[in-house]
Parts: sequence; C-alpha cells; structure tokens
Amino acid sequence: MIKLQDYEIEIRANSLISAGEWARKCLSMTNRLLVVSNQKVFGLYGEAVIKSLRDAGFSVDFYLIGDGERFKSFKTLEQTLAKMSESRLTRTDAVIALGGGVVGDLTGFAASIYLRGIPFLQIPTTLLAMIDSSVGGKTAVNTKFGKNIVGSFYQPSGVLVDVNTLRTLPKRELVSGFCEAIKQSIISDVKLFDCTSTFLAKFSLNNVNSTVNGENCLEDLIAKQIEFKAEIVGGDEKEDVERNDCRSRKILNFGHTIAHSLEKVTNYRRFKHGEAVGIGMLAAAEISKNLELLSSDELLLINGVIHRLGRLPKTSDLDIDEIMAAIAFDKKSVGNSVKWILIEKIGVPRIVDGSKIPTNLLKKSLAKVFSS
Ligand SMILES: NC(=O)c1ccc[n+]([C@@H]2O[C@H](COP(=O)([O-])OP(=O)(O)OC[C@H]3O[C@@H](n4cnc5c(N)ncnc54)[C@H](O)[C@@H]3O)[C@@H](O)[C@H]2O)c1
Repeated sequence: MIKLQDYEIEIRANSLISAGEWARKCLSMTNRLLVVSNQKVFGLYGEAVIKSLRDAGFSVDFYLIGDGERFKSFKTLEQTLAKMSESRLTRTDAVIALGGGVVGDLTGFAASIYLRGIPFLQIPTTLLAMIDSSVGGKTAVNTKFGKNIVGSFYQPSGVLVDVNTLRTLPKRELVSGFCEAIKQSIISDVKLFDCTSTFLAKFSLNNVNSTVNGENCLEDLIAKQIEFKAEIVGGDEKEDVERNDCRSRKILNFGHTIAHSLEKVTNYRRFKHGEAVGIGMLAAAEISKNLELLSSDELLLINGVIHRLGRLPKTSDLDIDEIMAAIAFDKKSVGNSVKWILIEKIGVPRIVDGSKIPTNLLKKSLAKVFSS
C-alpha cells in the first residue's frame, strides 16, 4: 500500500476478485458505480470485478469504449458522459476505470467534469498504467491538434494494482511499460536504476508468468516505481511551469521530447508510446554526452538497460529535419522554448533550454541514435 496525499494505491496480486471490498473502503457514500473499460480488458477481467463490486452492495453498470489511442477522443468522452447520465450517477456515485492508460485518462477526465466532478477509481491493467498513468492525477483526451491537449488534474479516490493482469498483456505493451520504468529509474537514483536493471537482466519478456511472483518479483519493482512517481508528483502536483529543478514534475518527461516527435512524424502508427520513449531516452542521453554533461560510462549504462528490452521499432528511415521541425512544436515547450530533460548522471536529470543546444549537435546526436 502506498499513500499519496488524498488516496492510496493498493498493490496486491489477485486483488481484482476483492475489488468490491477495496472500492467500499475508498468510497463510503457511493451507491451506484459505472465501470468503464474496453471489450478486450472487460472480456478478461470484467466479470470478476463486477461480481465483486455487486457482492459489496454496489449497484453496478458498465460502459465499453473502443480499443486504442484514437478512442481517447471528444466523441468517446461525450458518449461516456451520456452513459453516466443514463446510469443516473449522482455526485456521491463514482466511475471505475478498468484498463490501460487510454481508459484511465478518458475516464478520469469524464469524472472530473461530470456534475463538476465525481469520485473515480483506477484499476490499471497495463504496466505503463500501473507505474505511470494511474499515478499523479493527469487526465486527458486527444484532439486533432495533438495528444492530451484537453484535460485536467484530477486525483482518483484510490488505485488498485493487480500484477496478475499483466499475464495477458501483449509483449510489445510490456516492453512499452518497461521503457517508462527505465525512464523513472534513470531520473530517480542509483538504487532504483540498479534494481530495474537487475530485474530486466533476469526477466524474460516471453515468460511473464514466471516473474509476476517469485524471487525476481515484478510486484516489488512496480511498488518501487510507483513510490518514485508518487514522490515526484506529490512535490509538484500541477507541474509548476516555473520550476526547473531536478525534482520538478517536468523531469518525468525525460525521453519525451523526441518520443512525441517520433510518434507525430509516423502518424502514431509505428511506435507504442513507451517504445518511442525508449528511443527518446537513447537520444537524450547521447545529446547529454555530446554536451559533456554525461560521462561515456554512464551513457553505456543507460544504453545497456534500454537494449535489454530487445530491438525497438526502426528509425533509420526517418528524416531528421522533419523530426527537428516536430520538436519545435512539442507541447511540453514553455513560452517559445523547448525544455529538454537531459541527464548528468543516473539520478541527476537537468532541464536545459532548447536554445542552449546547438542545432548541429542535436542533429548529429539524432543521426547516431536513429541509424543504430
Ligand atoms: N495520465 C498520465 O499521467 C499518463 C502518463 C503516461 C501515459 N499516459 C497515457 O496512457 C496511454 C497509453 O496507455 P497504455 O500504454 O496503457 O495503452 P492502452 O490503454 O491503449 O493499452 C494498451 C493495449 O493493451 C490492452 N490491454 C490493457 N490491459 C490488458 C491486459 N491486462 N491484458 C491484455 N491486454 C490488455 C488494451 O486493450 C490496449 O490494446 C496514452 O494515451 C498516454 O497518453 C498518461
């Protein structure tokens, strides 16, 4: 159990079957619940969750959205809000997001604006959602102008992590989640970095079952990753634009400047988000080394842990100028300048204004990473 300011994150294998008891603890005044999920996740886990919620005395309805990033949209939001009204949810009732980051971000946003805000709970079922998107209260939908353009900061009333759900997660989704885990480990400290890297050295992406529990325990790693994210977001809940220190929430964007550009120039089709972050981290580390912020030894360590995940999608055919143009439009920029999250050594990120990075150095670094 990890305590945040306003809610708790419960991490327990096989906890889905007691989701009702957990929800009861989080929501003392609630009668009606709407579970939001997608067909795939609901087909795997919906029945168990709904049964447990009904056994705990809730009146439960459910709503299934389409599967994929394109359903994190205004249209789906409107449909979800309509379902919340049809289910006659009042201000003390609640919604539960059962699924990955798409379901979580959309449901959280719907909860934040329905009746000006009703409680919501998260049951993340992807690694990325467990360690990242369900922690910290960012909710959003995408628009034609980009990802996560419209959203809110809205904290859930509780998060339930059942590591056993990862047994059914496709391999690429697992890799994507591990990229975010590596990101958090690089910017946190040597302890989490070593722990993540040792875990990955023993872990087989083809045999999640053997490592969900047991000696090289995925549950422990997930708990440590969540603790780190909780610490950062707890100290900078709304990502203060004026903060540029190495513990501000902005550091969580390590690898993301390039990742967003990669996703954009490939029309969000080639990379899973985490995979793009993996390549983005390789590039950010290369830039850091070329700026003489990072030593070659630490660069090797960073590259080594990312490469443990196997080959990421190819980048050798991408046009560097196109990527550079996309970087200039990165939404994480403040005012007119792109804020790069670079790295001095494991555990010491540094926020660098884009104007301080020579264009040639940037291009050379990207060319090296993209061609390898
Ligand atoms: N709010 C935040 O702070 C934050 C942080 C990072 C990412 N995000 C957002 O998260 C989203 C990505 O989340 P994601 O990577 O979880 O993707 P996702 O929600 O699309 O899930 C990935 C795929 O896995 C399937 N799936 C989910 N759980 C499964 C399970 N247990 N077994 C089998 N299949 C399963 C889903 O149906 C989907 O096809 C993006 O929209 C991103 O913007 C938000």
